[in-house]
Amino acid sequence: MRKVLLVLLAALVLSLLRSVYSARRFGDEDKAAEEFESKIVLGFAQLGAESEWRSSSSASIKEAARKYGVELMFENAQQKQENQIKAIRSFIAHRVDVIAFSPVVELGWDNVLLEAKAEGIPVILVDRHIRTDAERLYAAFIGSDFIEEGRKAGRWLLEKFRNSEGEVKIVELRGTDGSSPTKDRAEGFREMIGNDGRFLIVRSLSGDFMRSKGREVMEEVLSPAYYNPSAGMTLDVLFAHNDDMAMGAIEAMEEHGLRPGRDVVVISVDAQRSALEALRNGKINCIVECTPYIGERLMDLVRQLVAGYEIPSTIYSEETVFTEDDPVESLPVRPY
Ligand code: AHR
Repeated sequence: MRKVLLVLLAALVLSLLRSVYSARRFGDEDKAAEEFESKIVLGFAQLGAESEWRSSSSASIKEAARKYGVELMFENAQQKQENQIKAIRSFIAHRVDVIAFSPVVELGWDNVLLEAKAEGIPVILVDRHIRTDAERLYAAFIGSDFIEEGRKAGRWLLEKFRNSEGEVKIVELRGTDGSSPTKDRAEGFREMIGNDGRFLIVRSLSGDFMRSKGREVMEEVLSPAYYNPSAGMTLDVLFAHNDDMAMGAIEAMEEHGLRPGRDVVVISVDAQRSALEALRNGKINCIVECTPYIGERLMDLVRQLVAGYEIPSTIYSEETVFTEDDPVESLPVRPY
């Protein structure tokens, strides 16, 4: 009888162990299935909608998120750093899988990025850089090489004036002060023309990457206090850090009776549709391309990060230069 009881007990323990084991196995499978099915959540803090480029960049990110099945929490910070910081904090509170953002300015991100790091949420910088002494605050940067964009503008200008002897007076329309494209484009441009004494940057003013401000600033540049050809106060070149400001400045020049592209050489950055049209019409002489189409590459990176792969720390976009010498039919027609 004791023997029978022992056998029964052993059978009972065995079946219990088996059911616990299989429950665990099924539990794991359920979890894996859940993980597979649950969407990756990406929090993106866009800096604003200051230019056509920016709107296009936002559209590219939203479209790519849809295509890649990534759940996107998207915030527009209206050009304010405090709004971007607030958005990033809300992404941390929501425990998103990845945070990405285009920093409106370079400085002032350490605290909020340390908070993300403490929560183990990886961060990707999109389009613009930050400046920090802290280490490993972000996993990767994806966007343009702005210093090289400035160099391209300078290189083209050197070539354009290779046979001229006199002074070349340049007005520079800067983007948002404190932002990486403004700092880097200015640096690259100066690196190229700085050793040639003919080139003088007579004025450098911020138009905040906006068409309305580009126009305003150009109106000031052309006011009698600064522009008076009979007194030798002239202008040979406009270097605008983006197309929106260049288009605003072109309007101001035309209202002033100047022929942009002929009386004043115009160099711009971005290559949006309206600027390419102005290049075709001879009102812009050179456009350095800066592409806003980085949504798909961003989603790729986000997926790789979440899957635990190592990702490259810097990914630059491939970009070109469009000039007055290009055959008109070779110029692209852009959707933005
Ligand atoms: O950071 C990229 C720059 O920001 C683009 O050149 C400009 O158009 C935008 O506003």
